[in-house]
Amino acid sequence: MTDSVESSVDGREALLKQLREYREKALEGGGKDRVDAQHAKGKLTARERILQLLDEGSFQEVDAYMVHRQTDFGLDKSHPLGDGVVTGYGKINGRRVCIYSQDFTVLGGSFGEVAGQKVCKIMDLAMQAGVPMIGLNDSGGARIQEGVHSLSAYGEVFYRNTLASGVIPQISVMLGPCAGGAVYSPALTDFIIMTKGISNMFITGPEVIKTVTGEQVDTETLGGAMAHSATSGVAHFAAENEAESFETVRRLISYLPSNNAEPAPAASLSDDPWRMDPTLDTLVPADPSVPYDMRMAIEAVFDLGTFLEVHTNFAQNAIVGFARLHGQAVGVVAQQPLVMSGVIDIDSSDKIARFVRFCDAFNMPLITFSDSPGFMPGVNQEHGGIIRHGAKIVYAYSEATVPKLTVVTRKGYGGAYIVMSSKHIHTDQVFAWPTAEIAVMGADGAVNILFRKEIAAAADPAAERARLAQEFRDKFSNPYRAAANGYVDDVILPSETRPRLIAALELLRDKQAKLPAKKHGSMPL
Ligand code: HXC
Repeated sequence: MTDSVESSVDGREALLKQLREYREKALEGGGKDRVDAQHAKGKLTARERILQLLDEGSFQEVDAYMVHRQTDFGLDKSHPLGDGVVTGYGKINGRRVCIYSQDFTVLGGSFGEVAGQKVCKIMDLAMQAGVPMIGLNDSGGARIQEGVHSLSAYGEVFYRNTLASGVIPQISVMLGPCAGGAVYSPALTDFIIMTKGISNMFITGPEVIKTVTGEQVDTETLGGAMAHSATSGVAHFAAENEAESFETVRRLISYLPSNNAEPAPAASLSDDPWRMDPTLDTLVPADPSVPYDMRMAIEAVFDLGTFLEVHTNFAQNAIVGFARLHGQAVGVVAQQPLVMSGVIDIDSSDKIARFVRFCDAFNMPLITFSDSPGFMPGVNQEHGGIIRHGAKIVYAYSEATVPKLTVVTRKGYGGAYIVMSSKHIHTDQVFAWPTAEIAVMGADGAVNILFRKEIAAAADPAAERARLAQEFRDKFSNPYRAAANGYVDDVILPSETRPRLIAALELLRDKQAKLPAKKHGSMPL
């Protein structure tokens, strides 16, 4: 070998060695001590999380060598590779996704100019490729030393979250602290999964709250997984641990199209389309005041074992989630008679409306099980704005152009009947069970208003009230008046629900529906 060839080989080897060293350095994150500290808290590192979530061997990292360019407050002394966030793309169950994972071992995962540029770049890539964007959040928030640069970085991310809304699914997994403005990127995404014990979300932490309002509260009570999944409704899922959070992401992705131009994904058929569960015929109790579990209807009608409930702990008087019907991914909305008789209140209005809009944006047919005595009465509800919150449900269903199917199982009273995907707001097919009562209100309430004087004047007011209520029930508390007017398309045996829904869904597969041209509507909020 000549000298020049030898030196070029040496030179090349040096270059390869340099790259390997760079790679190793990037993989170190904040160094062994900080990685150990992360593990001691029961938390995985940013890269370990990505590897656990994505299909084996699929992760492709980008921008591993980016470093910040700030000099204030000691930042000039350290330039960790990757700047506290790992970004890239990979696959989940063979489907492409883009991902970022904040690295708490580097400057507390704090978010500055360059971390923001990395996240924005991968979000732009997700939009161009038309694939879901997944964010793994574990950060001390805006990097304090970077001042307005870090605020700018957040702003750019919020802007992209907003533009991506309704174009690609966006999923946020909370795996550590999330304070201040940092909560707004997750809040702008479609689904938030909080991990019990290690994740928090709040605008302002306990210390500031104590100073400003005098309230004393710990971080878990203020912004832990249960606070947000059960009380505020900010989080859609509360997972027991990181592994369960990742499993939830993988399951969720399996129902969603990659973008708004794709149909909702169909799976291989796992259940008999003609399966008719006879227990459905006796699910609704004869006495209309006795509750039953709507989840049993959902489990029996959809492909077995496919129901993935969303917002399980929040506004439990309503149920929303994804399921498969003859392999087709669909959105399911229902009232839950077991909780507050399935009445519609402020929180359940928000829960339902948001879910309906998500499904419509991503071409997922909507199947509604309606059983509600009406909107929740009371000063708190009125002053809390039940009017504007309840209006969201009717707005969301009315503008939804995906195939819409409804089953009225029992109470279809008044406004609740109209807004829950009735024929009157252009639902494609409405079925009623024989137990359905479609009327302005229930019999007892109706006779008290209509026949107050007659009841008071009767020799036996209680007997007269009961007689009139029965008369009202015989006339109105059934599905046949609505069916006689074409407001329900058919009255069906409950056990027939599955094949009837499958047939209707098949018919509507290529449904074409157009809304009037507009920039956007002004949804009640
Ligand atoms: C810079 C930060 C940081 C931040 C943490 N660190 N948060 N560095 N900017 N925001 C650093 C710490 O100085 C520390 O560095 C390392 O990360 C680990 O942090 P610890 O405090 O040791 O960890 P821990 O005890 O687990 O507490 C984590 C924490 C706490 C609860 C997140 O660090 C914290 O309260 N951080 C500040 C949270 C916050 O107020 N963020 C700003 C929110 S306002 P060393 O080198 O000492 O180990 C905001 C505005 C955004 O985000 C607005 C957008 C519109």
